[in-house]
Amino acid sequence: ESGIEKVYEKKYREILPTLPIGKGWMTEHIVQYQGFWLIPDLFLKPLWWIHDEFKVQPTDIFLASAPKTGTTWLKALMFATINRTRYDFSSSTSTHPLLNSNPHECVPFLDTYPLQTQETFSGLDSLPSPRLLATHFPFSLLPDSMVSSTSGCKFVYICRDPKDVLISNLVFFDKLRPQELGHLSLQEAFELFCQGISNFGPYWDHVLEYWKWSLQNPEKILFFKYEELKKEPLVVVKRLAKFLGQPFSFEEERNGVVQEIIKLCSFRNLSNLEVNNTKTYKFTKDVVANNNLYFRKGETGDSSNHLSHEMMEHIDKIFQDKLSGSGLSF
Ligand code: A3P
Repeated sequence: ESGIEKVYEKKYREILPTLPIGKGWMTEHIVQYQGFWLIPDLFLKPLWWIHDEFKVQPTDIFLASAPKTGTTWLKALMFATINRTRYDFSSSTSTHPLLNSNPHECVPFLDTYPLQTQETFSGLDSLPSPRLLATHFPFSLLPDSMVSSTSGCKFVYICRDPKDVLISNLVFFDKLRPQELGHLSLQEAFELFCQGISNFGPYWDHVLEYWKWSLQNPEKILFFKYEELKKEPLVVVKRLAKFLGQPFSFEEERNGVVQEIIKLCSFRNLSNLEVNNTKTYKFTKDVVANNNLYFRKGETGDSSNHLSHEMMEHIDKIFQDKLSGSGLSF
């Protein structure tokens, strides 16, 4: 057992039986903690650790997202943008880290870091500044030290059409689901998703919390959609660089640096790399995923090949209701 597992064992045993239980997508059960559904084994102890011990740095950059909304893609784009003068990525002999490691290795998840490394967070202190870290935790579960306007750090949030999120979740978590649990059917997944019972769900609350925060603090958090990134990658990546305080110079734009970054991080490029076809990514000592699971289709609207017309309408209706008056729609 890692240090963190031991430190929070007592609290875990006390709190776990008090939490509402729902059917899990990757695990047998998930629990509802302060309004959100989490895999207890994987996320409760790290969440407490983040609150108690994680030391935010004013230069930190956090990528926040619900699962299957484009996290892998955005990790790659942020890493490539921030490090564009550190690594050569245009030549055929390039040794860019994104060509040899999965984006999840380049930008670690804060959420599972303590369980993954079997140690305390000291490893995070040695990351070069600005540190790039990712989280699936919803806004309201994050500690004040991260979200306060005086902390200096910045957030980038990506969201995606809920119908595509549902299908992407179903396919992905089903692959990681232990065989003895059997498959989750499309109908079951649909019903759970519509009740808000999905990893880090309800998905609408995850999106809404970050959306509202971004309206109040546009200099602290940049909010965009997967669909916008698909449609106008050039515009979004330039916005991203500017937001992160590293706008592309006229010279860089003329030399096609933005296009090079987009090409490097494209679905076609990343999904064909050897590292993403033959290697695995270790979330924790027990949860290991093949890198190729992160690259399925990478398209918008694929859910229409899986969901019935009625199911699609039902999800759209739920999200119209939940998001009504917020200024956000899918
Ligand atoms: P699909 O399952 O619809 O194909 P996450 O990274 O948050 O887990 O999200 C995974 C989704 O993003 C998957 O969607 C995956 O195929 C897609 N994806 C991964 N890399 C991508 C890229 N470079 N460009 C576009 N989409 C990408």
